[in-house]
Amino acid sequence: MFSRGQPYEIVCEIVSSPPQNNAKVAVLGASGGIGQPLSLLLKNSPLVGELSLFDIAHTPGVAADLSHIETRAHVTGYMGPDQLDAALKGCNVVVIPAGVPRKPGMTRDDLFNTNATIVATLADAVARNCPEAMICIIANPVNSTIPITSEVMKKYGVYNPNRVFGVTTLDIVRANAFVADGVPSRPAVCSDR
Ligand SMILES: NC(=O)c1ccc[n+]([C@@H]2O[C@H](COP(=O)([O-])OP(=O)(O)OC[C@H]3O[C@@H](n4cnc5c(N)ncnc54)[C@H](O)[C@@H]3O)[C@@H](O)[C@H]2O)c1
Repeated sequence: MFSRGQPYEIVCEIVSSPPQNNAKVAVLGASGGIGQPLSLLLKNSPLVGELSLFDIAHTPGVAADLSHIETRAHVTGYMGPDQLDAALKGCNVVVIPAGVPRKPGMTRDDLFNTNATIVATLADAVARNCPEAMICIIANPVNSTIPITSEVMKKYGVYNPNRVFGVTTLDIVRANAFVADGVPSRPAVCSDR
């Protein structure tokens, strides 16, 4: 687990590790609340040569918008399960914010059931298409989605514990902000995530 930095900074640390100074980075769940700003920040990174955006919805528009920014990363958008393999070919880094955030009325079990299936499906595609990529999991609950990813990689004989990362620091900086603001407990909208 990372102990510092925000998701974008963490991914930058990874893509700047030699020899990946021209990294191909995939964002799976690129159209979501985390995926869109994360993809925007990655598009501004000089360390990224190719940015591959995948989601089950809206990716062509997100990719088109980001491609208008005059930075070096070449942006491609992929949408739907049929395009998942193509989105992952040759990737050095795969970031996974895909999944549902918890909504009022949902239990942790509900969140797990949905996101476990999503992450397992995406990890399966990573194992088949870019088994050596570094995988950064943001989808919650991270302490469950990481073991799921690891088991999928083991199934294909491509598991490397040094290449699977859980990104928890968005939650941590939020908690810090709530403490700094004197909020006694997390607001409902955030505790849902
Ligand atoms: N690790 C952390 O610190 C942290 C912090 C906040 C939220 N989260 C988690 O991140 C996840 C995303 O949160 P969000 O606010 O961006 O949610 P969101 O609903 O705004 O976005 C999720 C995106 O995932 C996409 N998606 C769903 N199923 C998919 C699939 N099978 N393949 C590809 N894309 C798929 C959706 O279309 C959507 O665009 C949630 O699980 C949330 O709990 C983690």
